[in-house]
Amino acid sequence: MSIFDSISSLYDRGMMPLELLILRRLRRQIFPTLHGEVLELGIGTGVNLPLYNSHTSMTVLDASAEMLSWAARRVDGAPLDLVQGDTQRLPFANGCFDVVAASLLFCSVVDPARGLTEARRVLRPGGQLMLLEHARGRGLGRWLTDLLHPIWHAWSRSCCLNRETAQTVSRVGFNVQNVERHVLGIFQVIEALG
Ligand SMILES: C[S@@+](CC[C@H](N)C(=O)[O-])C[C@H]1O[C@@H](n2cnc3c(N)ncnc32)[C@H](O)[C@@H]1O
Repeated sequence: MSIFDSISSLYDRGMMPLELLILRRLRRQIFPTLHGEVLELGIGTGVNLPLYNSHTSMTVLDASAEMLSWAARRVDGAPLDLVQGDTQRLPFANGCFDVVAASLLFCSVVDPARGLTEARRVLRPGGQLMLLEHARGRGLGRWLTDLLHPIWHAWSRSCCLNRETAQTVSRVGFNVQNVERHVLGIFQVIEALG
């Protein structure tokens, strides 16, 4: 059982302060703009699902069966392809999605480069990668994320506070179009093409 299985029923309430501080606004900015065949990785409790426009065809994946069950409840019977699986070994053919999206995922994937390489593999050539992540900040944000990372990682057993996710996106071959930084550079909207 993963840490996310055990915290699934508390997850949304626990995230509320960060949602109110910044996440809710960024989610509303990003997810309604995505179109076509969309794969959302690390769907969690499905907090982004109500934000997608109705013409989007959705496949969602998460490693945690418990998180997926909360996501299923959120759509309440609407058609949705829910897959339990690992971002580092995606069970999809090459080039079958127009968009791969994720929020707050690559902080906790064990090997983010491998997960992002898989994301690129399943995207059609030139397809869109859209990420909302927390990562290593800038200035005071960098100092804070470096300082708190060891304690937070030991406590959470999965989440890294100081990853350079945008650099990893670029390193695995994506063409990074834009990195928007918020709250000391810690919250990042990363947009790239495959
Ligand atoms: C911090 S939660 C984020 C949930 C949601 N995306 C959000 O924005 O609130 C991270 C989610 O990623 C999932 N996850 C972590 N590592 C994963 C992996 N390697 N493959 C698939 N899902 C993973 C966890 O089970 C959890 O549901």
